[in-house]
Amino acid sequence: MTRYEQLLQELPALPKTWLITGVAGFIGSNLLETLLTLDQKVVGLDNFATGHQYNLDEVKNLVSPSQWERFTFIEGDIRNLEDCHKACADVDYVLHQAALGSVPRSIDDPITTNATNIDGFLNMLVAARDSGVKSFTYAASSSTYGDHPGLPKVEDIIGKPLSPYAVTKYVNELYADVFARVYGFSSVGLRYFNVFGKRQDPNGAYAAVIPKWTASMIKGERVYINGDGSTSRDFCFVENAVQANLLAATSSLSKSGGQVYNVAVGERTSLTELFELIKNSLVMNGGVPYALKPMYREFRAGDVRHSEADISKARSELGYGPKFRVSEGLEVAMPWYLSRLQPTTAPPK
Ligand SMILES: NC(=O)c1ccc[n+]([C@@H]2O[C@H](COP(=O)([O-])OP(=O)(O)OC[C@H]3O[C@@H](n4cnc5c(N)ncnc54)[C@H](O)[C@@H]3O)[C@@H](O)[C@H]2O)c1
Repeated sequence: MTRYEQLLQELPALPKTWLITGVAGFIGSNLLETLLTLDQKVVGLDNFATGHQYNLDEVKNLVSPSQWERFTFIEGDIRNLEDCHKACADVDYVLHQAALGSVPRSIDDPITTNATNIDGFLNMLVAARDSGVKSFTYAASSSTYGDHPGLPKVEDIIGKPLSPYAVTKYVNELYADVFARVYGFSSVGLRYFNVFGKRQDPNGAYAAVIPKWTASMIKGERVYINGDGSTSRDFCFVENAVQANLLAATSSLSKSGGQVYNVAVGERTSLTELFELIKNSLVMNGGVPYALKPMYREFRAGDVRHSEADISKARSELGYGPKFRVSEGLEVAMPWYLSRLQPTTAPPK
């Protein structure tokens, strides 16, 4: 039995209190669903900057009424230290997900990204330290590898950040490390690599590639590929990220300083390959992908060209083992997108 399988068996008999910041967002609401299903008590903090009440409502409909009663929601802002202290009170494990994601958003508005991702992160570290939580696990990012060309990415070798967003996520790691040294407050950073799955927002200018393309194909809108299609990513289904969070939070390693781990599959998919995978998955699930051919356009500023994780550190130290490869994750996510998005326009010529 893997450590994760063991944890899934043990947790319902040992209810703990978890704080999920960014609980109304994509990854946060998936963490919420899993933890409530495991009969855990959960406190959630969110200011709905990019998260939605309907994500919380969807989770409510997926768990039992008694499981939902174990959830307390605080509408608040991580830029406000008082909100962070309130959220951390009597919490065992913190899963800090709240941040403003998206490289282009950070290029358009570096000040708000900085305030949320750095000031907010520091507030959460201080509040969690003051509350004496058992562990602090936070969403780090593969963007921290920056301009380093080496593949696969190993935790200790990073380059220079390519965007304000990447700066903020790197600063998180620096603060986490310093808190371990100066205050003896340990934490675990999970460097997510392009996470995807249900409840990832397909709308808006800053949508991630998988929900954006899936929505475009379903709605009959043109799909654009930035660059020549060779850009590649290690796409990670959200269930893998949930697994990493639960393992990290409950691991004794979380007491050994400021650690960071890659969270991905360890495989690279080019954007052209991704287009085909999404299209095939749509067809397999009964959808009609109107946009049969993508349109190629300029590379996008701030984007890393290739990304692929070495996940051996997470495997050996956390017992992490991704259960879903990209095509398997798409299979699970596709019915969710199809049930929510309808064709609205005529197929592009
Ligand atoms: N999705 C990915 O591929 C990916 C990759 C690397 C890192 N990450 C990180 O994972 C975390 C979760 O990302 P996600 O994809 O679920 O994004 P998301 O936008 O769906 O969720 C973020 C949540 O944080 C909330 N939030 C933002 N600012 C806040 C504030 N000031 N106070 C309280 N709540 C606030 C938002 O309302 C939202 O619900 C983020 O830290 C992100 O940087 C995500």
